[in-house]
Amino acid sequence: MIIEEMQRYYGQRAPVYDSSMGYDDEVTVRRLGPIIDRVREAMSGRHVLEIACGPGFWTQFASETAASVVAMDYNQSTLDEARKKSLPFDRVSLLQADAYRLDLIPGVFDAILAVDWLAHVPLSKIEAFLSGAIRRVSAGSVLMFIDQLPGEHSRNGFFDQEGNFIQERTLPDVSVFRVIKHFFSDEQIEAQFSGFGGELRIQRFPECRRLIVSFMPTQSEQGVTPNA
Ligand SMILES: C[S@@+](CC[C@H](N)C(=O)[O-])C[C@H]1O[C@@H](n2cnc3c(N)ncnc32)[C@H](O)[C@@H]1O
Repeated sequence: MIIEEMQRYYGQRAPVYDSSMGYDDEVTVRRLGPIIDRVREAMSGRHVLEIACGPGFWTQFASETAASVVAMDYNQSTLDEARKKSLPFDRVSLLQADAYRLDLIPGVFDAILAVDWLAHVPLSKIEAFLSGAIRRVSAGSVLMFIDQLPGEHSRNGFFDQEGNFIQERTLPDVSVFRVIKHFFSDEQIEAQFSGFGGELRIQRFPECRRLIVSFMPTQSEQGVTPNA
């Protein structure tokens, strides 16, 4: 299954993830400044559940302003990398968990942050994932999903039968993995959120090669059992 393949891929990529993303490069980080500022601003004073935190690059900025952050990831190897960062561990906890079972995570949250995560969720699971995320917060909370805009080589790949865009990725040890990587249009994003009551905002930052999707639920879905 491609979900397990992606989990293995990011598990093995953990030690080189930040450098492969340019997160150890001043120029790249400076270029991401507008995105970083929005993360700081949106998470300010909130109790944040960060989904698929990876080695914690974005956790650093969320935790600068948040009241608390539970940063979770499926792979212990990514959390081990995050642990090496100088995060304010009195307010940040790292948790191994599954983004498809957010109901199992203890805590009360009024913000959700997920960077470079939604683009990897299979189309068949997006609605259930969003529902699981929205059900973890109350009305007036904020959900922020940040993903990449396509780059020069991003379109190298193919669509699987379900309509997921599949790319091949190679790690330094030359092992090759398939990953799902969506580049959603505004219309696709609007359709994904259309079943949930709330305010949706889509912002594109071509100069940062990023997209921010913010959603503020106007009604609480907590405790609501979804239809089978
Ligand atoms: C593209 S990386 C993004 C990491 C981090 N958010 C960042 O931007 O630096 C995707 C992350 O999703 C994690 N992941 C994959 N499947 C997951 C799952 N089912 N539940 C939680 N995390 C998962 C991977 O371990 C990886 O850290």
